[in-house]
Amino acid sequence: MIRKRRSDLPIARVWDAAAEGWVDFVRTGKDYWRDGVNNPAAFGLIGSIKGKTVLDLACGEGYNTRILAHKGAKTTGIDHSEKLLSLARAEERREPLGIRYYRMDASRLNNISDSSFDLVTCFMALHDIENYEGAVAEVARVLKHNGLFVFSIMHPCFEDMMINGVRINAAERYFDKVQHSINWNMKRLTKPFKTVSFHRSLTDYSRVLAKTGLLISRLVEPRPTKEAMRKHPNLIDVLTRPQSIVFEVLKL
Ligand SMILES: C[S@@+](CC[C@H](N)C(=O)[O-])C[C@H]1O[C@@H](n2cnc3c(N)ncnc32)[C@H](O)[C@@H]1O
Repeated sequence: MIRKRRSDLPIARVWDAAAEGWVDFVRTGKDYWRDGVNNPAAFGLIGSIKGKTVLDLACGEGYNTRILAHKGAKTTGIDHSEKLLSLARAEERREPLGIRYYRMDASRLNNISDSSFDLVTCFMALHDIENYEGAVAEVARVLKHNGLFVFSIMHPCFEDMMINGVRINAAERYFDKVQHSINWNMKRLTKPFKTVSFHRSLTDYSRVLAKTGLLISRLVEPRPTKEAMRKHPNLIDVLTRPQSIVFEVLKL
C-alpha cells in the first residue's frame, strides 16, 4: 500500500489535519500578525457593515467571521475543511451570532444565488485556494452590483516558499506559478502543522480580477500597529518589508 504524503492529500484533508494546531494558533493570541498587522488593515478597508450581507470565503474556524458578525453584518462563512467548520459551528453554538456556515469549495459556491452579497471577504486564504480563478469568478457572481471584495494574501514579492524541502525566496521564482508547503513550526505553537499554498504574481491576481469585471479600488501593504510593536518587537521586520497585501475590489 502506498501511503500518501501529506502534500499529496486533497487540500481540504490537509486543513482537517492542521485544524487542531490552527485553532490553538488563532484562538490563544499566538497569531499576533493577524491582530496587530493584517486585521487592522483589512477591517480599515471594510469599514461599517451594519446590516450588510457578508460572505466570508475560506473562513476557517471563523475567527474573522465572528468579528464581521459582531460588527452587525448578516454573515455566512464557507470553507472546504469539515474539521475547521465543526470548530466554527461549535463556537457559534457557544455564543450565537447568527452566522451560517457551509462546507463548500470556494470555486463552486453551489446554492448561493447570484448578486446576493454586499461584501465578500477572504482573509489570508486566496493564496491557499488551488482554483483561484474559479473562486474569483464565483465572488464576482455572488456579489451585488457595486459590492466589494476585500481579500488579503501573503505578499507574493516577499514570501518564503518550501519547495521539495528547499527554502526559496519568492524573488527567485517570482513569475512562476508554484505550489509550495508551509511549515507552521514556530516555537510558540503547541501543535506544529503543515499546509499547502500557491504562489502567483501580482499580475496574475490583477488579470484574474479584471477578467471577471472586478476593479481594484484600493490596496494596503499593512504595517504593525504601535501597540503590536510594543508587545511583539520582532514585528519590526514588517516596518521595512510587508508580509501581506490587502485588496479592496469593486464589482462594476
Ligand atoms: C490560512 S487559513 C485562513 C482562514 C481564515 N480566513 C482566517 O483568517 O482565519 C486558509 C483557509 O483556506 C481554506 N481553503 C483553502 N482552499 C479552499 C477551497 N478551495 N475552498 C474553501 N476553503 C479553502 C482552508 O481550509 C483554510 O481554512
